[in-house]
Amino acid sequence: MNPARLSHTQPAVASETVKIAVRPARITDLPALLDLLYQLFTIETDFAVKPERHARGLRLLLGAVRRGRAYVAVAENQRQVVGMATVQIVVSTAEGARSGWIEDVVVREDMRGAGIGTLLMADIAQWARANNLARLQLLADRRNRPALAFYDRLAFQTTNMICLRLACPNRGQPTETAAYARKPR
Ligand SMILES: CC(C)(COP(=O)(O)OP(=O)(O)OC[C@H]1O[C@@H](n2cnc3c(N)ncnc32)[C@H](O)[C@@H]1OP(=O)(O)O)[C@@H](O)C(=O)NCCC(=O)NCCS
Repeated sequence: MNPARLSHTQPAVASETVKIAVRPARITDLPALLDLLYQLFTIETDFAVKPERHARGLRLLLGAVRRGRAYVAVAENQRQVVGMATVQIVVSTAEGARSGWIEDVVVREDMRGAGIGTLLMADIAQWARANNLARLQLLADRRNRPALAFYDRLAFQTTNMICLRLACPNRGQPTETAAYARKPR
């Protein structure tokens, strides 16, 4: 997705009763962000819910934010965090430029469908433009139809690429699951 295509001109009010403000995350948001990640990883069966790891991940991400390498947007309704989205900078040799990986897009269950996800993505796109990123990309569960409809509406395009992953052996896994071991032919 080209960040220039996502406008940030929408009002930060999704309905008369819901008043949403989107802002950068603070370290004090951590418990609320963990609650949101719990909701997300419960849906995404490629990931297990492991709160300690998610807390460590969020702290790493906020460290990257301080170095200008990432951005964490939160949506707030009456001082309660109700949604989040994150983006991290990577270098794209294909584009010859920096691009952004979006992750952790989630809105509190009872607040979905009110435009909050759209506001979060517009904020991410604005950050991407400010940082001269050539494009934004993300992974989505192919079975998550609401999320796919959401991204489609925001003009994200499906590609032919698939995600492959390999666990790295330095995280205390048992040897049989350690990476870099060759699979028997
Ligand atoms: C996906 C998600 C972030 C969207 O946030 P949201 O605040 O509900 O989305 P919005 O209200 O801004 O919706 C914008 C558009 O997306 C589409 N959309 C959103 N939710 C949808 C749903 N459940 N079914 C179909 N389309 C949907 C619609 O086109 C909608 O526009 P419309 O209301 O004018 O029809 C939110 O539903 C969510 O948290 N889902 C669970 C976590 C998740 O799946 N995250 C994505 C991981 S890749």
